[in-house]
Amino acid sequence: MYILSTVNLTVFIRSNIVEVMRPWKYQTVGLIFIIGVILILLFSIYGRTFDTRSVGVDDLSSKTGHELITQQNVHQIQQKIYATSGLPEEYQIPSDEELDKLDEPTLMKIYWKYINMLQILCKDVIRVGNLNDGGKEICVDNGFKPQAPCLVYSFGINNMFDFDNSIVNTFGCDVHCFDPSMKNETRRLSEHVWFYKWGLGGRNHVNNKNWEIKTLDTIRKELGHTNRSIDILKIDIEGDEWNAIPQMIVSRALNDVKQISMETHFASEFAHTHNYWGGLPPNKQLSALRQLYDFGFRTFMRERNLWGKQKWPGLSVEITNVNEVSMIKPV
Ligand SMILES: *[C@@H]1O[C@H](CO)[C@@H](O)[C@H](O)[C@H]1NC(C)=O
Ligand SMILES: *[C@@H]1O[C@H](CO)[C@@H](O)[C@H](O)[C@H]1NC(C)=O
Repeated sequence: MYILSTVNLTVFIRSNIVEVMRPWKYQTVGLIFIIGVILILLFSIYGRTFDTRSVGVDDLSSKTGHELITQQNVHQIQQKIYATSGLPEEYQIPSDEELDKLDEPTLMKIYWKYINMLQILCKDVIRVGNLNDGGKEICVDNGFKPQAPCLVYSFGINNMFDFDNSIVNTFGCDVHCFDPSMKNETRRLSEHVWFYKWGLGGRNHVNNKNWEIKTLDTIRKELGHTNRSIDILKIDIEGDEWNAIPQMIVSRALNDVKQISMETHFASEFAHTHNYWGGLPPNKQLSALRQLYDFGFRTFMRERNLWGKQKWPGLSVEITNVNEVSMIKPV
């Protein structure tokens, strides 16, 4: 009985509610539909406004590189950056005269801010070589993807040929590898890989470790590559990059280099006075970075190398002064 009466009651209530609700239900559906249409309209208008604003170069100054990148605006930003003459002023590295006047913590902050900034977008980036130290990020967008017969120079090997072999397997390039710190002698290693017991530097000389150091233009002449463009220049040479960069620019050896993948080693004044990691004062290291920018190279990828993290004099936090940067030079 109890069950029966409950069922009856439920049926009674339900049928009455349905009767009461019916006209209300149609109104509700209509109302929800209209609200939906209004919301869609509002979102599409707002969304478009947002997109236009987010490609403005002004926004570069208030956002970090990776915040700028969304699926929708990648192409627009790329066009915009290609079209503008350069970075907002507060993101640029100061002139040599100004750098000379700055103290070490200030120079370190400029380095840190600059080296972690994206300056151009490469839509397709692939990792070549291993995921730890040694592998590099390569841009394979139109105009930058190496195609056989391509030429790659790889400075700084330390017995790890994973980057070099990966370049051969992926693109079929000729890879010329250089490392004066290895015991091995200069020889051709395989159909596409050569090894030289030479180092890259700012002048041709034999250094205090008895390593044969050469400039990029000298190497290109000696190897008969003056009329072949270099698809990728990989540089991991423990601070000597600061000596090599200005010389590569002045000698025009960098003129037909399409992309650079480099490990940077920003060294303190202490390193300068004790002559290691390139032996240059911090302001000269920043100057070399600025010269690369002025020459037209733009960073599309950067990574912090935690191997080089330290607490810098005058700064309260630990930061990395060893960084990986990959750059392309748009034409
Ligand atoms: C370098 O020399 C070592 C020791 O002789 C040898 O095991 C290694 O295969 C050599 N590597 C190359 C790339 O020639
Ligand atoms: C580069 O130089 C070599 C030898 O001097 C020549 O055979 C070749 O045609 C040149 N290539 C180009 C692209 O100029």
